[in-house]
Amino acid sequence: MASAIFTLMFLATMVLLQLMAVAQTDGSKPVGASITANDDAPPWLSSSGEFAFGFRQMENKDYFLLSIWYEKIPEKTVVWYAMGEDPTDDPAVSRGSKVELTADSGLVLTDPLGNRIWSSDGFQSTVSSGVMNDTGNFVLQDRNSVRLWESFTHPTDTLLPTQIMEAGGIVSSRRTETNFSLGRFQLRFLYDGNLVLNSMNLPTKFAYDAYYISGTYDASNSSNSGYQLIFNESGYMYILRRNGLREDLTKTALPTTDFYHRATLNFDGVFTQYSYPKTSSSNRSWSPVWSEPENICKFNSIWGSGACGYNSICSLSVDRRPNCTCPQEFSLLDQNDKHGSCIPKSEISCKDTGQNSSEELYDFVELRYVDYPLGDAERLENQNDEQCRKACLNDCLCGAVIFSGKDCWKKKLPLSNGRLDSGFNGNTFIKFKKGYLPPGNPGIQIPETKTGRDIKFITGIVLLVSSVFVNFILISTFCFRSSFIHRNKVANVRGENNVQSNLRSFTYKELTEATEGFKDELGRGAFGGVYKGTIKTGFTDFIAVKKLDGVVEHGEKEFKTEVNVIGQTHHKNLVRLLGFCDEGQHRLLVYEFLSNGSLADLEISGTRAILTDWACDCYRYGTLEALIQNDTEAMNDESTLERVLKVAIWCIQEVPSLRPTMRKVTQMLEGVVEVPAPPNPFPFNENSYS
Ligand SMILES: *[C@@H]1O[C@H](CO)[C@@H](O)[C@H](O)[C@H]1NC(C)=O
Ligand SMILES: *[C@@H]1O[C@H](CO)[C@@H](O)[C@H](O)[C@H]1NC(C)=O
Ligand SMILES: *[C@@H]1O[C@H](CO)[C@@H](O)[C@H](O)[C@H]1NC(C)=O
Ligand SMILES: *[C@@H]1O[C@H](CO)[C@@H](O)[C@H](O)[C@H]1NC(C)=O
Ligand SMILES: *[C@@H]1O[C@H](CO)[C@@H](O)[C@H](O)[C@H]1NC(C)=O
Ligand SMILES: *[C@@H]1O[C@H](CO)[C@@H](O)[C@H](O)[C@H]1NC(C)=O
Ligand SMILES: *[C@@H]1O[C@H](CO)[C@@H](O)[C@H](O)[C@H]1NC(C)=O
Repeated sequence: MASAIFTLMFLATMVLLQLMAVAQTDGSKPVGASITANDDAPPWLSSSGEFAFGFRQMENKDYFLLSIWYEKIPEKTVVWYAMGEDPTDDPAVSRGSKVELTADSGLVLTDPLGNRIWSSDGFQSTVSSGVMNDTGNFVLQDRNSVRLWESFTHPTDTLLPTQIMEAGGIVSSRRTETNFSLGRFQLRFLYDGNLVLNSMNLPTKFAYDAYYISGTYDASNSSNSGYQLIFNESGYMYILRRNGLREDLTKTALPTTDFYHRATLNFDGVFTQYSYPKTSSSNRSWSPVWSEPENICKFNSIWGSGACGYNSICSLSVDRRPNCTCPQEFSLLDQNDKHGSCIPKSEISCKDTGQNSSEELYDFVELRYVDYPLGDAERLENQNDEQCRKACLNDCLCGAVIFSGKDCWKKKLPLSNGRLDSGFNGNTFIKFKKGYLPPGNPGIQIPETKTGRDIKFITGIVLLVSSVFVNFILISTFCFRSSFIHRNKVANVRGENNVQSNLRSFTYKELTEATEGFKDELGRGAFGGVYKGTIKTGFTDFIAVKKLDGVVEHGEKEFKTEVNVIGQTHHKNLVRLLGFCDEGQHRLLVYEFLSNGSLADLEISGTRAILTDWACDCYRYGTLEALIQNDTEAMNDESTLERVLKVAIWCIQEVPSLRPTMRKVTQMLEGVVEVPAPPNPFPFNENSYS
């Protein structure tokens, strides 16, 4: 009897050992398994040994990164890393830190003193094992193999084949190639169905203007809008629309049997798909398959520094990556961050006076074909370059001037969105203090190549304008006749005034009553309707109430801030916002109601769209013709008319994320900022000209 029990126990042990052996080869680890960060801590491998999970030693050998990497590639390319919620944290941890697989929190990373640094979270059940899958996905599962947490649903800067990104998904760049702290750039799949690239503020993560937009949002029929970003097992990345159609990002991919694939948002903001030969060839490396955007140096954002840091100049490398350089007489703020800001070697100052004239104190660095658009302080007309420089020399607040044609723009430091642009017919002159460093600067030299693209584009717009607004041919041809080539920049940066917002805060009950239970619908967008109502507002009796009930994921404070921005914005071409309602789930905007227009065709795609959308309302109220005719200033001045028209075309962009923010619209209308040539507003239209 005893021997029988012994035999049974022996058999059971054998089975257990077998099971454990199987568990090891299929890349799975039981609860309790751990790795400690030191020089030779073995990682957890996937069953094929292609991917590894564990600690990667950093440049500074006392620091380690909890990550997943391509084990069979000599560089051991990192494809995922544990990133804390606090973006200021450096995810590298010190020697002796430990990651453990626990039943209730899954993966838990602790420092050598046992303090918790990071953990996988967001699930209720009990973890039974962790699996390093051969796809590169680390999966935590319960004892019924139900997936509780996956590295694929918590991407960092890289996506891998078989990985899917849903609406709301974000991929973030790292700080630099070797620093894995949160960087300035994001790839986001928006709820409206667009895939966008944008820079952001750190540490608040406020998203700035997008510099790439997939255009997979269909305002007229949301079933044609984007639904998922898919990187399929054959190495093709595409946006799947709700109607099942695909928008291919990868045109051709090398076979996954012979090549590894990854798509990474590089630290410099360029999103690139790469492939790497699996079998050894002499020079194996990750080669780009495609990348976006086409030219990151051309990215304009009123906030932030642009593709490079402040004062820096962006030029595009052959691989579409930005090459950032400091102007002469400037040096990097942080020597280790080539893409960071540049600071003057000697500060110019209004206290530099005395006996010596400004000619004796200052000189200029000439930067040929270099432009710093946006953020101009003053505009001077009918100047030659000598007069232009002199104007800056005699203004102690002036840090630089841009001279093009007969126009001269004074700038204050720091400069942003700097770029070398062979299509820009002008030069930048940056003021510097003499006597500190040898002057004599040839400036950046580039061969002059006229880009035919811009001209084609402008022609396209002229065609477009005349085709879309048929009743509008006269004005548009008149407007676009001549002056698209010259730089349309304007004086006076508008002061940020802290005018108390005169917006009224409505209760939901009030608005329900005013609209008789949202009875009279004027129009409908993707996230709700616009309703006619009656209320005593002090301005008018009739109101148009726009429901934003679909936009609940946005913070209350953000909503208030943006509403405040709109509230402080008044312009004759724009519909007036009277108030708002922000009550629990309910977010509504209350506009004055204009009886000769309708607030139809509205689309809301997040808080930003509250702004952009409003811009559109103003133009959709009437025909453009009526709008311009009522604006005598515009009728009498060709350049004002051109400006108003261009803003209008920006406002009616079918892709809402392309529409400018309200702040930008007013700045453009008032001529505070340059109005860039707008793209084709109807990219999905068959008669598209862009
Ligand atoms: C690994 O990934 C493949 C493909 O997604 C999937 O079929 C398989 O179930 C995964 N294995 C585990 C243990 O999650
Ligand atoms: C990485 O960058 C962050 C943010 O700039 C910085 O605080 C941190 O010290 C850097 N880490 C290393 C190792 O340089
Ligand atoms: C939206 O598009 C789908 C197919 O793309 C079509 O079946 C449907 O009828 C369209 N709906 C409307 C309202 O046009
Ligand atoms: C991946 O996507 C491409 C392009 O859409 C397609 O041709 C290919 O058949 C897909 N592969 C699989 C396995 O679905
Ligand atoms: C290897 O390098 C050479 C020259 O640098 C290049 O022409 C060739 O295309 C490379 N081969 C592969 C497979 O990348
Ligand atoms: C970057 O630009 C500078 C100045 O134009 C140039 O000297 C340098 O060779 C460029 N570097 C690369 C990698 O293109
Ligand atoms: C004025 O310039 C002379 C040389 O040009 C220099 O020696 C002197 O220090 C300067 N004075 C001031 C106040 O900068």
